[in-house]
Amino acid sequence: MISTIQQLCADSPPLFYPYVIDGLIRAVAAQRQLPRRLLEIGIGMGHGHARYHKVAAEVESLQGFPFEVWGIDNGSWVNFRAHFMQNLESIRALEREPRLLLMDSRDAGLLLAGVMFGIVFVDGDHSYELAYNDIRTYGALVPSGGIVIVHDAQPGLGPSNAIQDCADMFTASHLDDRYNPDHDVAVWYGIRK
Ligand SMILES: C[S@@+](CC[C@H](N)C(=O)[O-])C[C@H]1O[C@@H](n2cnc3c(N)ncnc32)[C@H](O)[C@@H]1O
Repeated sequence: MISTIQQLCADSPPLFYPYVIDGLIRAVAAQRQLPRRLLEIGIGMGHGHARYHKVAAEVESLQGFPFEVWGIDNGSWVNFRAHFMQNLESIRALEREPRLLLMDSRDAGLLLAGVMFGIVFVDGDHSYELAYNDIRTYGALVPSGGIVIVHDAQPGLGPSNAIQDCADMFTASHLDDRYNPDHDVAVWYGIRK
């Protein structure tokens, strides 16, 4: 199982993290005992959300307030809301219903208690405290063999320090460090004990 996931990561095109995540979703979906349900924490413009609907059976997203209307992406101002609406439409075109919880991830733990996810993708607030909270709270909803993915996990940042302090939750982990330093992202995943 671990080698399958690592193989998928190795085979995915470098420098574009969504491909890595698509590979992980497929690896989890191939394991029948895991729920085919993904939780994304932090939806942003919804690019990931739209994409994951194509490869995961069920996708749930948590988006905290404030919900950005404009934001900086790759150094330029972008109308996040317009992209978000477009992505929602592309999900509906797949005849899937976007499922969004407009809540701060600090408050949604109780609401989701009892729901199990094959994959939790942590990409909300990138401070140490919130990344730690997200990994602990929502990682607990992933059964053994399922995966927690953390975005922006390059060493030195909050999420990376949080991962280290949550190491007891995982049997194995992998940092896909083929990130583009200009975009400053790295993807980490851990396999739940
Ligand atoms: C980097 S973006 C997510 C990008 C998205 N995952 C993708 O792949 O396209 C981070 C998002 O997390 C949201 N966020 C920040 N703090 C949050 C919190 N406490 N709970 C839920 N979402 C939060 C921000 O509003 C922002 O939209």
